Amino acid sequence: MTPALTTATSGTAVGDDIPAAVRIDHVHKSYGRPGADRPVLDDITLDVRPGEFVCLLGASGCGKSTLLNLVAGLDRPTAGSITVPGGRPALMFQEHALFPWLTAGRNIELALRLRGVPRAGRRAEAERLLELVRLGGAYGKRVHELSGGMRQRVALARALAQDSRVLLMDEPFAALDAITRDVLHHELTRIWSETELSVLFVTHNVREAVRLGQRVVLLSSRPGRVVREWEVGIPQPRRIEDAAVADLSVEITEELREEIRRHGRH
Ligand SMILES: Nc1ncnc2c1ncn2[C@@H]1O[C@H](COP(=O)(O)OP(=O)(O)OP(=O)(O)O)[C@@H](O)[C@H]1O
Ligand SMILES: [Mg+2]
Repeated sequence: MTPALTTATSGTAVGDDIPAAVRIDHVHKSYGRPGADRPVLDDITLDVRPGEFVCLLGASGCGKSTLLNLVAGLDRPTAGSITVPGGRPALMFQEHALFPWLTAGRNIELALRLRGVPRAGRRAEAERLLELVRLGGAYGKRVHELSGGMRQRVALARALAQDSRVLLMDEPFAALDAITRDVLHHELTRIWSETELSVLFVTHNVREAVRLGQRVVLLSSRPGRVVREWEVGIPQPRRIEDAAVADLSVEITEELREEIRRHGRH
């Protein structure tokens, strides 16, 4: 296989010799024959530092999920390389993708089993993770008994069960109502600040990106390229309605609008 997808231990340096948690290096992705189709991703270079929370923002169809899937190792770049020195990342989707025939607890235990956690320790660990996402007591609940927000909490607990250093999130809260999303933003930033996780979070919601990210990276419409990035200096915990969050969101939305206009999309 030509294009490199590396999960080796030899991380390349970010800035002052700090190894990147994720290094995306001149990545191109096309689905058709080379030259026959407009590429989906064009020369993406982006590092996520250890412990950093990066939001990837862009219009629908610009290649955000494609990029996340490449980082997850589900697909390979056409050219360029992706390095994840800490091993395979955990991935959380927009849809919870829980197994409906298993309880919340059993869904998490399955991830623990795949990770190689011995049977004897799995139940207690699943319960600890449910507590972490504030769902203590939901161990025996089946998926259909849980609300959309609760399902996404279980999905988050299941992603955390993989004990990966990197968490990839593809619009995980997009289907939730504003209040539930707000609560989950709070929980996610709490869990992130209590762990050493590096997070790459995909969204097309500017406010959400500014609410969550230490850095917001804007992708252009197809082909996806990095247009611009912003360091978000607003201290956590933030609220989505904070004036500083609103101000930066206005600036980024302008740039996103401009980007969509440039590509003739509405
Ligand atoms: N397996 C595939 N084969 C061919 N084309 C694909 C494939 N997967 C994605 N694409 C195309 O790549 C482009 C980017 O898709 P992708 O799902 O990455 O966008 P996105 O930014 O995640 O969009 P959204 O915000 O709607 O989720 C789209 O034009 C899509 O049709
Ligand atoms: Mg997508």
